[in-house]
Amino acid sequence: MRVLVAGGAGFIGSAYVRRRLGADPGSSVRVLDKLTYAGRRENLDGLDPDRVELVQGDISDPESVADAVEDCDAIVNFAAESHVDRSIHSPGEFIQTDVFGAFVLLEAAREAGVRHLQVSTDEVYGSLESGSFLEDSALAPSSPYSASKAGGDLVVGAYHQTYGADTVIVRGSNNYGPRQHPEKLIPLCILNALAGDPLPVYGDGMQVRNWIFVEDFCAAIDLILARGEPGEVYNVGGPDELPNLEVVKLILELTGRDHSLIEHVTDRPGHDRRYSLSSQKVRELGWESGLGFADGLRRTVEWYRDNEWWWDPIRSGEYRSYYERHYGRALR
Ligand code: NAD
Ligand code: DAU
Repeated sequence: MRVLVAGGAGFIGSAYVRRRLGADPGSSVRVLDKLTYAGRRENLDGLDPDRVELVQGDISDPESVADAVEDCDAIVNFAAESHVDRSIHSPGEFIQTDVFGAFVLLEAAREAGVRHLQVSTDEVYGSLESGSFLEDSALAPSSPYSASKAGGDLVVGAYHQTYGADTVIVRGSNNYGPRQHPEKLIPLCILNALAGDPLPVYGDGMQVRNWIFVEDFCAAIDLILARGEPGEVYNVGGPDELPNLEVVKLILELTGRDHSLIEHVTDRPGHDRRYSLSSQKVRELGWESGLGFADGLRRTVEWYRDNEWWWDPIRSGEYRSYYERHYGRALR
C-alpha cells in the first residue's frame, strides 16, 4: 500500500509516516508538503529512502496534487496552517490551505477513486464548560484557524453526501511530543525553561486542554484509515485534561526550574476555555488512549533536551522575530 501523506513533513504528519512504515512493512509513503516554516525535511530523517518520497508542493495547486496522488491507494491530509495565534494575524492563509487545499485534495481523491482521510481538530466544536463533545455535536469554531478547519470538514462531508466519495474525518485533541514547533505551548515552555526564559501564560492559565501523545493519535489515524466507515467522523481525545498552568508547572519541575519563571501575559482574543472529546466511537474500533500525560511529558522533555540539533536552527532563526513581535520581549 502506498499512502499520500499531505503535510507529512510537519509535527504530526512525520510521526504518522513513522507509524505507517512501522505498522506495515510492505508499505510506502509519498509526502506532499509545501515546507512552510512548520514543515522540515529533518522531520523525516532516518527513514528508509526506498519507502519515503518527499515532494515539495502546495495542496492548493491542482497540478502538484494530481502528480502526487498517482499510484497512491489513499490520501491522509495533515497539511494545514495549524497555529491559532498566527490565524488571528493572517487568516487568509488559513482559508486558502485548510479549506481550498482540502477541496483540491478531495477532487484528486475522487478522480483517483481512493479514500481521503481528513485530519481535523476538536477546536471545530468550540469551547465547553462540562461534559465532552460527541461526533454529532454542533460545529461552533471560535478562531480563524478553527473556522477554516470546520470549513474543510464541511467540504469533506459534502463530497461524501453528493458524490459518494470515500471519506473519513478524524478530530484530534491537543497533541504533544517530539518535533512539535516551539510556537506551541509545550515545546515553547520546555525550550524557554531550558534557556531560563520566562514561560508566557495567557490570561489566568486556567484554560483546559485534553492532551494526547502524538504516537497515540497516529495509531488511531492508521486504524481509522483501515477500518473507519465511509462518511463517518471519529473523535480521538487524550487520556488527561489539564489547565495550562498545571502543564507549565510540570514542565518547570521536569527541567529543574522554579515558578518564578511563570509570566502571565495578555490573553489570546477569543480564547476557548476548555476542550474535551469523547473517544467512545474510535474505542469501538479497537483503539486505546495510551500514554498518560506525566509519562508523555517526561519523554517529550527528554527528547528536546537530547535534540538541540533539531530545535536550535528554529530558535535561532526567524522564530526569534516572531516571538518578539508576539510576546513583546526577546528570547535569550
Ligand atoms: P504543523 O504546523 O506542524 O504541520 C503542518 C504541515 O503542513 C507542515 O509540514 C507544513 O509545511 C504543511 N503545509 C502547510 N501548508 C501547506 C500547503 N498549502 N500545502 C502542503 N503542505 C502544507 O501541524 P501539526 O500540528 O502537525 O498538525 C497537522 C494537522 O493536524 C493539521 O491539519 C492540524 O489542524 C491537525 N491537528 C493538530 C493538532 C495539534 O495539537 N497539533 C490536534 C488536532 C489536529
Ligand atoms: O485542540 C487541538 C489544537 O491544539 C490543534 O487543532 C491546533 O493545531 C494546535 O495548535 C492546538 O491549538 P491550541 O491553541 O490549543 O494550542 P497552543 O499550544 O497554541 O496553546 C495551548 C494552550 O496554551 C491554549 O490554551 C493557549 C495557551 N498558551 C499558548 C501559548 C503559545 C499560552 O498560555 N501561552 C502561549 O505562549
